[in-house]
Amino acid sequence: MKIAVIGGTGLIGTRLVKILNAGGHEAAAHSRSTGLDLLSGKGLPEALKETDVLVNLTRSPTLDEASPAFFEQTMNNLLPAARAAGVGHAVILSIVGIDLVPDVAFYRARVLQEDILKAGPVPYSIVRATQFFEFIDTVLSWTADEDTVRLPATPIQPIAADDVAQAVADVAVGAPLRATRDIAGPDVFTLDELGRITLAAHGDRRTVVTDDSAGMFAPIPGEAIIAKDGAVIAPTRYRDWLAR
Ligand SMILES: NC(=O)c1ccc[n+]([C@@H]2O[C@H](COP(=O)([O-])OP(=O)(O)OC[C@H]3O[C@@H](n4cnc5c(N)ncnc54)[C@H](OP(=O)(O)O)[C@@H]3O)[C@@H](O)[C@H]2O)c1
Repeated sequence: MKIAVIGGTGLIGTRLVKILNAGGHEAAAHSRSTGLDLLSGKGLPEALKETDVLVNLTRSPTLDEASPAFFEQTMNNLLPAARAAGVGHAVILSIVGIDLVPDVAFYRARVLQEDILKAGPVPYSIVRATQFFEFIDTVLSWTADEDTVRLPATPIQPIAADDVAQAVADVAVGAPLRATRDIAGPDVFTLDELGRITLAAHGDRRTVVTDDSAGMFAPIPGEAIIAKDGAVIAPTRYRDWLAR
């Protein structure tokens, strides 16, 4: 199968391209660094030529109020080009629970991206993942100072990037789901607890202060971003991954 991975040079994309090619497929990574800009559409027809499946792993440069325009424009460039190229399956990687968190602009943007895909002309699959293990240090950095990291007690169920890439590969080589598949890590933590585990593993002596108003995860209600019944649960545990 010929598979175009747009955003194929990023965290998930590099892993995904490797898995697909090792499985005998012909996967190619595309991004601005290879000459494809999904925001302007430059390089799209060339990237999608004779392609069976496309996977879109791009994300907006910021997570703020500018993000909906990015996802709207990129999907409105992508889908007509995919249709014109005869692509038979379009896959996107979204986020578990986003429809339950309208107060977060980036999550509203992802719902918009999903809606454009569902209404579009190409048979589709949506994979929704929980937060990547590799993203946790970034989350901690948002509300950190020299001595403390302030984090809310929001429940979170992180997943390893390797497991995400495998789940996306499984979907990409199958028939279009015309539906959403949730994937999540095996353990639920509260974010403040996850922060304490992470700092301890890094030998970082800063203190985690529980603060239910701190950072982007503060407005998330209840268990909104935890996997629901029917989700695929990935094997890698956060503590084991940290210890590697
Ligand atoms: N972080 C999480 O915990 C999490 C959880 C669930 C889902 N997700 C979603 O999963 C997806 C993959 O995440 P990731 O961590 O692999 O992202 P990443 O490492 O930031 O990679 C993003 C990729 O998109 C490319 N890109 C960005 N803007 C582009 C544009 N205008 N045109 C073409 N390519 C563009 C980047 O390459 P260039 O810069 O060279 O263009 C890069 O290859 C994202 O949509 C993300 O939001 C993330």
